[in-house]
Amino acid sequence: MNDISTYFLGIDVSTTATKALLIDLNGQVVGTAATEYPFETPRPLWSEQHPHLWWQGAQQSIRAVLAQTGIDPAQVGGIGLTGQMHGLVLLNEAGEVLRPAILWNDQRTQAQCDEIHRRVGRERFIQITGNVALTGFTAPKILWVKEHEPEIYAQVAHILLPKDYVRYKLTGEFGMDKADGAGTVLMDLKARDWSNEILAALEISPAWMPPLYEGPQITSRLTPEAAAATGLKPGTPVMAGGGDQAAQAVGVGAVTEGIVALTLGTSGVVFATANGPFIEPEGRLHAFCHSVPGKWHLMGVMLSAAGSLRWYRDTFAPGVGFDDLLAPAAEIPAGADGLLFLPYLTGERTPHPDPLARGAFVGLTVRHALPHLTRAVLEGVAFGLRDSFELMKSSGLGEIRQVRVSGGGAKSPLWRQILADVFGCELVTVNTTEGAAYGAALLAAVGAGQFESVEAACQAAIQITGSTTPNPDQVREYEAIYPLYRGLYPALKPTFHA
Ligand code: XUL
Repeated sequence: MNDISTYFLGIDVSTTATKALLIDLNGQVVGTAATEYPFETPRPLWSEQHPHLWWQGAQQSIRAVLAQTGIDPAQVGGIGLTGQMHGLVLLNEAGEVLRPAILWNDQRTQAQCDEIHRRVGRERFIQITGNVALTGFTAPKILWVKEHEPEIYAQVAHILLPKDYVRYKLTGEFGMDKADGAGTVLMDLKARDWSNEILAALEISPAWMPPLYEGPQITSRLTPEAAAATGLKPGTPVMAGGGDQAAQAVGVGAVTEGIVALTLGTSGVVFATANGPFIEPEGRLHAFCHSVPGKWHLMGVMLSAAGSLRWYRDTFAPGVGFDDLLAPAAEIPAGADGLLFLPYLTGERTPHPDPLARGAFVGLTVRHALPHLTRAVLEGVAFGLRDSFELMKSSGLGEIRQVRVSGGGAKSPLWRQILADVFGCELVTVNTTEGAAYGAALLAAVGAGQFESVEAACQAAIQITGSTTPNPDQVREYEAIYPLYRGLYPALKPTFHA
C-alpha cells in the first residue's frame, strides 16, 4: 500500500447521476458530489442512456469532490466503482461506443428471453446462471441487437456494463467485477466465471467479455489522460467494485450469512448474503455473486415499494407530507380492518416475474377511510417483501437473524414496525446512509490493504444506530393475514392478463 494513502474514492454510475464519494482511513465520509443526467425512452418499453454521460458525470463529480475537500490527489489510495446493473454497453475494436446503452429497466426483450430458454433449456439455464432470463438482464439485450441492428452487431468487439465503461475511460483497460458480471446471466454462478456453454449457445464470442475480478481486487490503474481529465494522480489503482445492489449491501454491512439488506426506495430490494451458490429452484429470486470474495447472494426485487406509497399519496392525498399521511394509520389495527393492498403498480419481478401484474385494493367496505387505505399500502408492500424472505428459506439459506433497512421508506417508524412484525424479525438502521458509492469506497479501501477483508472493513466502519423488534401479538395477526395476501395474485392473475 502507498504510505500516503489516506482517502478512498467510491464512484456510483447510477441511472440518474454519477456520484463521487471520498472516505478517510476509518471509513468516515469526507465529501460527496453528484452530476445528474436524464435517460431516454425512445419507444414504449425502451430505456437508454449514452455512456458519454457517465464519463462526463464521473469527471465532473471527481473534480468537484476534490475541490470541495481540498485533499491532495496523491493521497487517494484507490477508486472503487459501482453502478446500475445489467445495462448493455457495446464497443467496437477501437473502443468506441456503438449505440446508446440499453438499461436495466428496458423491457423490449421478452422474445429474446424466450429464445434463450429455448436454446439452453430453462432448467439448465437456471442451473448454470442461477437465474431465469429476464428482460432487465444483459444477455437478452445482446440477442436483441443481433436481431434488430445487425450492422451494429457486426462491429462488436467488447461488451461492458455501465460502471466498467467508466473503468475503461479511467484506465484504458477492460475489466468487470463478478457481482455485476453475474447480472449479465452469462456467467457460471458456481465457477464465478464466464460460462462457455451459455456463450456458445447464444453465439457470443468469449473474446468480447472482459476479465472478471473479485470486488476488492485491483483491475487497472489511472492513465495520464484520465488523471488530467479528473484531477486525480496517474497510476491510482482502480478496484473492481460491484453492481449497485452488492455495493449497497457492503455499504450497510450485509456481508455475512443471516444478515439481510432491505432497501426501501422506489423499488424494494431484499438482499441476503450466502456462503454458497444457493439458487431458488424456479429462478424466482436473483442469484448473483457478492462483491465479498468467495460469497454469493440471493435477491428479491419489488418494483413499486416506496413507489407505491408515493403513488398513493400523490393520488389520494396530494400535497400532504408523508409524516402527516402516516400518523393516522398508526391508530388502525393490524390488517386494516380487512383491507388488503397488492403493490404491483408497475408489474412485478419477485416473486411473480410478470409485467402484466397489477395493483389492487381488496376488501373495501363503507367502514374504511383514508387511514385504512394508507395502512393497507404499508402492509401490502411488507407482505410483498416477505414473499422474497419465504423464497430465500426455500432456497436453503439459513435463518435470517437481522434485517438492515435503508432507503427513503425506512425513515418511517410505523413502516419499520409493520415490516418487523410481518417478517417476524429484528430490523436495524445503521450509521452509513450513502449507499452503493460508500460500499464501493470501502471495497477500494480493502483492495488498498487498509482493511484485511470486506467483513473487517464493515465491522470497523458501520455501526447500528436503531432497532425495531417485532411485537408478538402483531406477528400473530400478520401470520394469519399473510396467506390471504398470498392468495390474491393467483386469484387476480386471469383478470390482470385479460
Ligand atoms: C438490480 C437492478 C437495479 C439496477 C438499478 O437487479 O436491476 O437495482 O441495478 O440500479
